[in-house]
Amino acid sequence: MSDSNDKGKGKGKAPQRPEEGEEANASNKGGSGTKKLPPKMIESLMEMNPALKSELANMDKDKAAQMLANMDISQLLTGLSLDGKNQKDMASYKFWQTQPVPRFDDQASKKAVTQGPIKRINPDEVSKTPDTLVEGFEWCTLDLTNPEELKELYELLNNHYVEDDNAMFRFSYSQSFLHWALMSPGWKKDWHVGVRATKSRKLVASICGVPTEVRVRDKKIKVTEINFLCIHKKLRSKRLTPILIKEITRRCYLNGIYQAIYTGGVILPTPISSCRYYHRSLDWLKLYEVGFSPLPHGSTKARQITKNHLPDHTATPGLRPMEAKDIDAVYDLLERYMQRFQLNQAFTREEIDHWLVYKEAEGKDQVVWSYVVEDPQTHKITDFFSFYNLESTVINNPKHDTVRAAYLYYYATETAFTDNSKALKERLLSLMNDALICAKKAKFDVFNALTMADNPLFLEQLKFGAGDGQLHFYLYNYRAAPVPGGINDKNQPDEKKMGGVGIVML
Ligand SMILES: CC(C)(COP(=O)(O)OP(=O)(O)OC[C@H]1O[C@@H](n2cnc3c(N)ncnc32)[C@H](O)[C@@H]1OP(=O)(O)O)[C@@H](O)C(=O)NCCC(=O)NCCS
Repeated sequence: MSDSNDKGKGKGKAPQRPEEGEEANASNKGGSGTKKLPPKMIESLMEMNPALKSELANMDKDKAAQMLANMDISQLLTGLSLDGKNQKDMASYKFWQTQPVPRFDDQASKKAVTQGPIKRINPDEVSKTPDTLVEGFEWCTLDLTNPEELKELYELLNNHYVEDDNAMFRFSYSQSFLHWALMSPGWKKDWHVGVRATKSRKLVASICGVPTEVRVRDKKIKVTEINFLCIHKKLRSKRLTPILIKEITRRCYLNGIYQAIYTGGVILPTPISSCRYYHRSLDWLKLYEVGFSPLPHGSTKARQITKNHLPDHTATPGLRPMEAKDIDAVYDLLERYMQRFQLNQAFTREEIDHWLVYKEAEGKDQVVWSYVVEDPQTHKITDFFSFYNLESTVINNPKHDTVRAAYLYYYATETAFTDNSKALKERLLSLMNDALICAKKAKFDVFNALTMADNPLFLEQLKFGAGDGQLHFYLYNYRAAPVPGGINDKNQPDEKKMGGVGIVML
């Protein structure tokens, strides 16, 4: 969420607060390195890497600081332990060490990775019944077409999903968002898993999935996209998570899907990639008032407002909201664009329609905003971009009760196929500046983006500040060599580290 302390428990996808040194970071491109880690960074590293935390706890403070200073930050962010042998600690993951996921030490062994499934699943051997839950609780399958049950999931998440340690912000997924995210083409009711308290019937935990296909390098695989793992605060630390994960895995296996993709702010064995969050203030003063954006040392409120000011009008000729008639053109452009990344989503036309075209309906909030550029002469669609809305509740603030965050979603441009990297950068700078203007017009307060896709080409120049959140990408029951996440070993956006992650997870 918004505070620098939250990424340990959260998904690292909420509007994480930019670091105090936002200004310095933004101008210090590739800089001289981060040998001396700021205390906040150390705190973040430890929250994300529990094995590291326990190692440091047993160490002399000065020695620990010295060791940390000599480590490669990007490695620490992806689970490296401090024992000096570059071993990553599997033993502390009691559940995950039993699962078909790559071990930390697989990568350390430096052997060439043979890409493919880790475990062959024999459908006949998959249990037809779920594991039993502790007394007083029972499994349920949510019927999200029923507004009552959609509301129940919404309430569980709104009260118990990701929030920051200081309880200043909490995700506020709208019911329209959940409808969009969980009823995509081919969705299965069976994969909307809940746990209820037997007596009260209250929904106390969830884990959900939707089917899709991803490409990992040259291989296309059917996967479940896992999301909305959530446990009621009163039922935490009772090892319910492994039971939920095993149950959705069982239900996926029974449907013939043996792989999954998921993301998280915590380090688990073993990320295929890790990206960092960046944030562009659209309403700086509001972000400051709610405690999201700090006032950088030596700056003034007026200077911050001026710095983040955007033009009133977009600059790209032919830019307009995407309509249903653009689906084929966007599908064709996005398919080609996506294949430039090693890990990407293999969309169907139906999915393009579902994920990108806003359909106005009574009682439904707008979730996705998509725009195309139609060449005024040829009427060809040459570019498109999109973002989605994920609000956060601001807790106990006298002036504001929500932060409206736009998250950069998919985009594509024909300029990528001209083999002119300078032209691509120029084009993305102007398209994304227009995206910021569109988001500002749609009353968003902040625009968030990861270091994935081609984002390192524009993040710093368009005044995105470095966030304190990291998002790790995982594949279940699939081994593949890591793909770059757009950051270098100083955890800074790096154009040389692009071409890895092309999939956006909600
Ligand atoms: C994430 C959450 C479900 C974990 O619940 P918990 O009660 O702390 O943990 P449990 O005792 O049930 O289970 C612990 C196991 O789950 C694993 N785990 C914790 N968070 C996880 C995550 N996000 N994804 C997968 N596994 C996770 C732990 O690593 C541990 O396994 P290990 O022994 O192999 O290390 C809970 O904290 C929560 O609902 N948080 C708010 C919402 C949220 O952050 N959801 C995850 C979004 S990615």
